[in-house]
Amino acid sequence: MLERDFINAQDFILSFKLKWTRFLYPKVREKFLVLKPNIRSKMHLDDVDSLVSNTPDYKIFAWCERHLQKMKYSGGYGLHGFYKERHDVFGEKNSEEKTEKGKKFCLPEYYQAVDIHQQPGGIWSNPFAGLIYERGARTTTPMLGNNHKDLHYRFAETLLKDLKHQNSVATIIDLGCGFGKSTRPIAEYATKSSIIALDLSEPCIKLAREEAKKNKLNNVTFSQADARITSCKDETIDLATSTMLLHEMPESGIIELLSETFRILKPGGRALHLDFWLMRDAFDRFIFEGHSWRNNEPFMSSLFAMDLPKILADIGFVNVEISSFKEAEHIDPENHPYWRFPWTTIGMYKPK
Ligand SMILES: C[S@@+](CC[C@H](N)C(=O)[O-])C[C@H]1O[C@@H](n2cnc3c(N)ncnc32)[C@H](O)[C@@H]1O
Repeated sequence: MLERDFINAQDFILSFKLKWTRFLYPKVREKFLVLKPNIRSKMHLDDVDSLVSNTPDYKIFAWCERHLQKMKYSGGYGLHGFYKERHDVFGEKNSEEKTEKGKKFCLPEYYQAVDIHQQPGGIWSNPFAGLIYERGARTTTPMLGNNHKDLHYRFAETLLKDLKHQNSVATIIDLGCGFGKSTRPIAEYATKSSIIALDLSEPCIKLAREEAKKNKLNNVTFSQADARITSCKDETIDLATSTMLLHEMPESGIIELLSETFRILKPGGRALHLDFWLMRDAFDRFIFEGHSWRNNEPFMSSLFAMDLPKILADIGFVNVEISSFKEAEHIDPENHPYWRFPWTTIGMYKPK
């Protein structure tokens, strides 16, 4: 595959996705918005389903969501084919150092059962999976374009706004760090802190480590480990965080992860997760229930149904705060007219 053809095809898919975001989504939402606000506010998932699911606009919307993503990864000019052909170059470059593994490490079954995001083989099963994931993630939030990177910096600012963490010598853990996109801004801002970054995917960890080396980030240790079994000692962590991890785990796994976080946090320590949870109305819930299936993210839907405040209180966390997160300055989460993820920060403290 010529690189030029690959780039053109990927650009085509991205511009199609932008039309989907800006024109198709609002067209489907229009059917909900024409109803009176007092009717809309009483609607449930099933009501929205009956209202829109048989309309041509919704069918086209849903079809495009599934198949544009499929083309991005598996089509004739897809990311998988492109990196597979260049396997030797990337494979060698990406396999120099041995990856540190967590205690009794093994990949969970849930993780291997699904090709997450429709990436063939998931983001773990071949040496170039991290590179594919990195390239694919550049267009996950099409409206943000190149500002997608800023989302992680904005979140790191929120995470570290308590200056204690920025200026003091803290221990921070980034759970499910992927190829290091969420870790990098934390490491850049909290220069005096030590950051532990872990993920299940070996190719992602290798890429994350290489990027950190390139960027001279010496305050991060990467390891291949399960966020539910971190190997950290009890009460040794000041701040625990994750970005887009919770929705990729089954309900039981999320509860295990939150309990593990409680165990490793110091008394008074904080956890802040960025994920998808608060939605403005039943229409968006319907759209993201569908996204969960169309994008091969089966656990997203079960996260939506979880009673997080109760679960966190049962584990022992206090001062739980769940809020919408503005992924860019110009976005109003309550009134955004185009498709966007329901970004949500989920914050909590371990009692002193
Ligand atoms: C959507 S990605 C987000 C990556 C990164 N935090 C970011 O913001 O770019 C979710 C990551 O969670 C990892 N993951 C899923 N289950 C995990 C688990 N039990 N323990 C550690 N990592 C996990 C996946 O391998 C993937 O890299």
